Amino acid sequence: MPTMRSIVILISGRGSNMEAIVRAAQAEHWPVSIAAVISNRTDSAGLEFARRHGIATAIVANKDYPTREQFDTALRAAIDVFAPDLVVLAGFMRILTTPFVEHYAGRMLNIHPSLLPSFPGLATHRQALAAGVRLHGATVHFVTPDLDHGPIVAQVAVPVLDSDSEETLAGRVLDQEHLIYPRAVRWFVEGKLSLDGNRVRLDPSAEQV
Ligand code: GAR
Repeated sequence: MPTMRSIVILISGRGSNMEAIVRAAQAEHWPVSIAAVISNRTDSAGLEFARRHGIATAIVANKDYPTREQFDTALRAAIDVFAPDLVVLAGFMRILTTPFVEHYAGRMLNIHPSLLPSFPGLATHRQALAAGVRLHGATVHFVTPDLDHGPIVAQVAVPVLDSDSEETLAGRVLDQEHLIYPRAVRWFVEGKLSLDGNRVRLDPSAEQV
């Protein structure tokens, strides 16, 4: 029997990446328990999906905390109730403090909608169009205190078309996010990822997934 792992997923809004992970975990029978979905906003559409799927939900609203430190302390307490093996940031739109990030070192993943290290930060699709790149994409990485610069687990590239708007490009990237993020989370829960300095090593069997 494979070891069962537990994960907590953090969202801020729509939650389509969270949904892709939950659906893949169920359809592919991962050795995982999705312990909770936590949002920093009360109006996240993704919370409703989680509730319908019988997943515990929690809201830690950043607007209720005067400082970043206080918010991160409350968020950490809410996560650690579930003692997860992995924290998955899925469209979680908050900059996290260093102590928070270090508490989850090696066990927190993020997806960022660009081919890092290009275009960290916000409005990545606008940045890509402004730079005139022909390839854009998404990156799954371990979270480190250096924003959007942690060790890279997976990347996917999509073409940028002359006719693209921010919206069409975002949609093309998002479709691919929904494929690579579940795959990367699955690798983690199956114990197939390891860190070697800034490089992520993948167990050879993981290539088959
Ligand atoms: C996704 O495109 C994700 O990559 C991005 O927000 C979107 C969330 O969509 N994340 C970031 O920009 C993080 N800096 P979702 O809520 O439907 O998963």
